[in-house]
Amino acid sequence: MAVFNLTINNTDYKVDVDPQMPLLWVIRDFAGLTGTKFGCGIAQCGACTVHLNGDAVRSCSVPVSSIGQQKIVTIEGLSEKGDHPLQKAWEEVDVPQCGYCQAGQIMSAAAFLKDKPHPTDQEIDNLMSGNICRCGTYNRIKKAIHLAAQGGKS
Ligand code: FES
Ligand code: FES
Repeated sequence: MAVFNLTINNTDYKVDVDPQMPLLWVIRDFAGLTGTKFGCGIAQCGACTVHLNGDAVRSCSVPVSSIGQQKIVTIEGLSEKGDHPLQKAWEEVDVPQCGYCQAGQIMSAAAFLKDKPHPTDQEIDNLMSGNICRCGTYNRIKKAIHLAAQGGKS
């Protein structure tokens, strides 16, 4: 066991855990932030996506010992009132079905939109291809990303 000081959504946490513990477990079980989901546990589905210093990472496959001073943002911290342009677009398009994959979808989209604010269909397909949705909401995800990229005007 070892002690780690982490900053999650601008709040400091001190955890005493196995250094190999995946960040996902720290986020869910120690910080109590359960919006980030466990899907595959092997970096294949994207359900556990969070931001590390603004980049999308798969928290199921990032050991807590590798975080250091990097700032962690989860779906709960993406915006103060759930009003990130993507969250508003998601609502307007009514994207989710079961909802399980959706936090990861939004976190992946939020990270890449910073670099590519006006993506094409093809770019969305490529950049979101690592996020699996068993309910097949891909078309609505694409529509919502375009909507957010246009400033929310459909
Ligand atoms: S649970 Fe992390 S990628 Fe699937
Ligand atoms: S909405 Fe059900 S898995 Fe994506």
